[in-house]
Amino acid sequence: MSESDSPTIVKWHSASVERARGCVVWFTGLSGSGKSTVANRVDELLANLGTPSFVLDGDNVRHGLNATPQILAQRHSTEFAERFGLTFSSIDREENIRRIACVAELFVAAGLVTLTAFVSPFRRDRDLARQLVVERGGVEDFVEVFVDTPIEICETRDPKGLYKKARAGEIKNFTGISDPYESPNHPELHLAGGSKSIDELANEVVDYLRKIKKVF
Ligand code: ADX
Repeated sequence: MSESDSPTIVKWHSASVERARGCVVWFTGLSGSGKSTVANRVDELLANLGTPSFVLDGDNVRHGLNATPQILAQRHSTEFAERFGLTFSSIDREENIRRIACVAELFVAAGLVTLTAFVSPFRRDRDLARQLVVERGGVEDFVEVFVDTPIEICETRDPKGLYKKARAGEIKNFTGISDPYESPNHPELHLAGGSKSIDELANEVVDYLRKIKKVF
């Protein structure tokens, strides 16, 4: 066997191909806009196409890596919970997005199409996430997807009853009600979340990924 046929060389080559296929698909939009539902549908479509992918979802991540101070206080000191727990203040949202971007970048390095579903209301935080991913890979490694669903529709859906609570003043800093949402200026994909079906929206994402050769 010549050196170029050795398993070590073949393994190294395949790892670099995987890296080339990984990317971050960054869904942003209001709570109830459909980010998670579309991301999970894309995840299923990619699985059927044999493309490795993973969904990082705001509600789940805020129970673990980016847990709230209340959750952390169950196992840690008050000082610890206050220092490392994340709320919905703008600085804590900034840290939430920074940690997610770092984790997403690791998943990209593992060759995964990484689908992130976070409100991520601030343009600057999303731009920093893009920068973090792109500087370790390439410009095509970050795909910002704006799930543009009008707030009236999100509020009617209100799947977790949070808009109702926000309107009643029971939740402070609620995005779209008492906290701002800054729409992306130039997202790679702009999805009409209020007027198309989940399958139509998910297929738009997969078609885009095909176009940039992240899916075959
Ligand atoms: S982000 O702004 O920091 O990106 P993230 O996506 O992690 O937010 O979490 C948003 C989810 O937390 C929403 O889908 C909603 O279920 C819940 N939530 C609780 N409080 C708030 C709030 N003040 N603003 C927005 N979402 C909230």
